Amino acid sequence: MALPDFLATLEKLLTAAEDAFAAAGDAPTVEAARIEFLGAKSGRLKEAQKGLGTVDKADKPAAGKRFNEVKEAIDIAFQAAQDRLEQSKQTGGGAQATGPLFDTTLPGRPLRLGHLHPITQTIEHLKEIMGRLGFSAAGGPEIEDEWHNFQALNIPPAHPARDPLENFYLSTAGVTAKQPGTGAAPLLLRSQTSTVQIRVMEKTPPPVRIISLGRVYRPDTADATHYPMFHQIEGLLIDRHVTMADLKSVLRLFARSYFGGDVHIRFRPSFFPFTEPSVEVDMSWNDSWIEMGGAGMVDPHVLQAVGYDPEEVSGFAFGLGVERVCARRHNVTDIREFYKNDVRFLEQF
Ligand code: PHE
Repeated sequence: MALPDFLATLEKLLTAAEDAFAAAGDAPTVEAARIEFLGAKSGRLKEAQKGLGTVDKADKPAAGKRFNEVKEAIDIAFQAAQDRLEQSKQTGGGAQATGPLFDTTLPGRPLRLGHLHPITQTIEHLKEIMGRLGFSAAGGPEIEDEWHNFQALNIPPAHPARDPLENFYLSTAGVTAKQPGTGAAPLLLRSQTSTVQIRVMEKTPPPVRIISLGRVYRPDTADATHYPMFHQIEGLLIDRHVTMADLKSVLRLFARSYFGGDVHIRFRPSFFPFTEPSVEVDMSWNDSWIEMGGAGMVDPHVLQAVGYDPEEVSGFAFGLGVERVCARRHNVTDIREFYKNDVRFLEQF
């Protein structure tokens, strides 16, 4: 047999077999098609193989190669028919059994591509800006003890900031804020990232230049500017001869990088137990002042609590609300939007 004739026979055989297996809707029909095409004794493939013996010697490799491909394709068609029967048995679908598995002409369903939450994006951005100013990121636990959240920050036991109603104390092993002195230390969800100042200074000798970004918790009623959980960016710089002017310069550089352009910083006198003097930090951008957080010169008591010498070193600290900063930049008027998980809102960032 000439090679073209042999190949034409194979092609015809393949089409017939694929059609037969595709149309077979039940087990007996599939079995009948199997015997017709793949039968070991007198199947049509077997017959075609005989033709292979009559092909010219020089054409044998090409003929044999195509024969094997066709055989494989028919095997696959048979397997597909069997799988289809198996599947329709499992889904109990009679109607589907004869049709193709799915309509390949249907348009696909696009997968949505997610992205980072706006607050996470803001955190990354703030870290990057402060990194350029030489501040490295430090972290601390969200479950804190009273030493790091209060005592070392110059907030004594009788201070109103320690009120159980102002904090999320944990009732660990029956220990609550109301039962001090039982030996076990009460724990609480940290109410400020200033805790990280203490943790870093306890471990590192001066100079220190860090930021800490993370979640803090306060039992506040949620409104447009408050949420029981929010994020703070804390900055701490300790060195020789650090002044308020350094604090203001760093905050201004920071604000200008983040908001881009003409941002102004305003300090208003305030009080925090861990800074002296203390200020509230306002920022103005596009002509309106927004309160961003607190700052001040680190109180000598705090430096002493971590074993620094207040005669040798001084420093500044600040703590700003990440949600507020982000909301200001993107003109979001209610920070609760950040936590509703409404994709229509989140998609815009
Ligand atoms: N920890 C203060 C707060 O949560 C903010 C602050 C940080 C103030 C550092 C001064 C210095 O309100």
